[in-house]
Amino acid sequence: MAIHKIARMGHPVLRKTAEQVINPTAPRIQELIRNMVETMQDADGTGLAAPQIHVPLRVVVFFISYDADAGNTDEKDIPLTVLINPTIEPLSNEKKLGWEGCLSLPHLIGKVPRYTEIRYRATAPDGSQIDCIAKDFHARVVQHECDHLDGILYPQRMEDLSLLMFRDEMRYGTPE
Ligand code: NI
Repeated sequence: MAIHKIARMGHPVLRKTAEQVINPTAPRIQELIRNMVETMQDADGTGLAAPQIHVPLRVVVFFISYDADAGNTDEKDIPLTVLINPTIEPLSNEKKLGWEGCLSLPHLIGKVPRYTEIRYRATAPDGSQIDCIAKDFHARVVQHECDHLDGILYPQRMEDLSLLMFRDEMRYGTPE
């Protein structure tokens, strides 16, 4: 296993459309996943997409701890989840604003509109199919991570860039 350097905004790998994984159960994909998980945990992140460690493949990892994030209104933790070749379908047109950070934009935080309810499908590392309905913060994390696979960073989803801030400056209060 290895902890990888994380690409930051401006690196071309973050602007690329990532490629489909042909064989999700291949040993090199399993190794990629282990490295992604280790890198995410080392960086204290909630999620990580393969392009963020300079690998342009459609793989994301995430987990959600309700205790650690007040934005998770589901009130249930989502264990470590790996999505290979994920697709997302919004289940309604409703979007809500919520704060997001990203390991590729260190120290920054922004208020981003996201669909509040989605269905996502993907292949799991064991080759089985994932088909899941997600709401609120869980839905937000999946949309954020899957955007990385299409070369999109969260500021590109923002409608009001005055809500793109350095995390440190939030001690002066957060705009609602
Ligand atoms: Ni991110």
